[in-house]
Amino acid sequence: MDRIRISGGRKLNGSIPISGAKNATLPLMIASLLTDQTLVLENVPRLADVALLQRILGNHGVDVMVGGKRAGETQYDGQTLHISAAHIIDTTAPYELVSRMRASFWVIAPLVARTGEARISMPGGCAIGTRPVDLLIMALERLGAEIEIEGGYVIARARNGLRGGKVVFPKVTVGGTHTAVMAASLAKGTSVIENAAREPEIKDVADCLNKMGAKISGAGTSRIVIEGVARLFGARHRVVSDRIEAGTYAMAVAMAGGDVVLENAQPELLKAGLDVLVQAGAEITPTNAGIRVTRNGSGLAPVEVTTAPFPGFPTDLQAQLMALMTRARGTSRITETIFENRFMHVQELARLGARIQLEGETATIEGVERLKGAPVMATDLRASVSLVIAALAAEGETMVNRVYHLDRGFERLEDKLSACGAAIERING
Ligand code: UD1
Repeated sequence: MDRIRISGGRKLNGSIPISGAKNATLPLMIASLLTDQTLVLENVPRLADVALLQRILGNHGVDVMVGGKRAGETQYDGQTLHISAAHIIDTTAPYELVSRMRASFWVIAPLVARTGEARISMPGGCAIGTRPVDLLIMALERLGAEIEIEGGYVIARARNGLRGGKVVFPKVTVGGTHTAVMAASLAKGTSVIENAAREPEIKDVADCLNKMGAKISGAGTSRIVIEGVARLFGARHRVVSDRIEAGTYAMAVAMAGGDVVLENAQPELLKAGLDVLVQAGAEITPTNAGIRVTRNGSGLAPVEVTTAPFPGFPTDLQAQLMALMTRARGTSRITETIFENRFMHVQELARLGARIQLEGETATIEGVERLKGAPVMATDLRASVSLVIAALAAEGETMVNRVYHLDRGFERLEDKLSACGAAIERING
């Protein structure tokens, strides 16, 4: 298994290209199941999760062709995928695949909408808590699917097609909203989704679906209205930039100090995260190229943050912020309200000398003068990258083990950071 070695203490200077968003790419690839024509996605990041979803879709009969490089493209330009679900050969998604990536459960919506049937394994637990699918099932039922649960599989049927309906989510769910929007796009009649997730990735997928012929309005707000259509068509769409990747590197710069432009980052998608960084003492300037992040010699100020659905502070940046606050001058408090058990990074950060106390959903972080390098282990995607951030400011060498989690969500992380002066390298093996 690969490891990443980091020697702390260097400033970051230069520019970091921000890739297309993983959390938009996955549902966009899944949306290709809604049409028998080709969906072309540009700016797709090279990530392990994208490759895995390619395999999962292949199981249903979807062909994915990776476009060749064009003249002038750099190694950081995203890939172009040509995805064709002309013939769906299997409507079952087996446990071996769904259990490896929860978001693949979302294929249930386009499969039942297009073919009238889907048999998808329940995803099971994962490292950040139970993550149930009850609300996704509720949404499909409200749109006319009959649901049975048998032998660990959710079986959804709609022999005569789905029909428009009203879906009111008792809790904001990104996956539930994607599921409802995709299903309603091919349902007969009009659907209304209340308390919908407002994440930019929801809007990006809805924009793409509209290019494919769907009639969706209100995506990006908490009320989405979908007028169902009989069929959808091929389209070409460019994946929105990854606000979580941008936020992560912004925190890395705040931690290490320096001056970095995050190319293609969209500040309006990351306001809550950037506001917290400004409070902590970083300077943030939107530029034509993206976002410029600087921090000079002055110390970091502590912050109090509670994670919340968009436009609140994202749970996907919670671990990274905690790493940053380990070096603040004073006591910070971070409360996690989206996922239970999303604090696995705490024990590992402690190995580097961080002082963090957990009480229920709240972590209290007492800033320390210095962190010291140590071997640490990555336990999930965001936790792993928080260890990298801490290591950038730790004295001596930190070895981050089990980095396959990082490869699920960060494209060429070590290249992007070393190009800005970090002493970071991957050790294969
Ligand atoms: C998506 C993101 C993930 C992010 C999360 C919250 C992708 C691929 N993943 O995950 O990176 O951390 O949004 O912003 O986009 N819930 C239920 N029942 C359900 C579904 C969800 O109780 O049927 C709960 C979850 O346990 C959690 C909350 O709702 O407490 C939010 O989860 P959700 O927004 O659905 O997360 P994902 O879509 O899985």
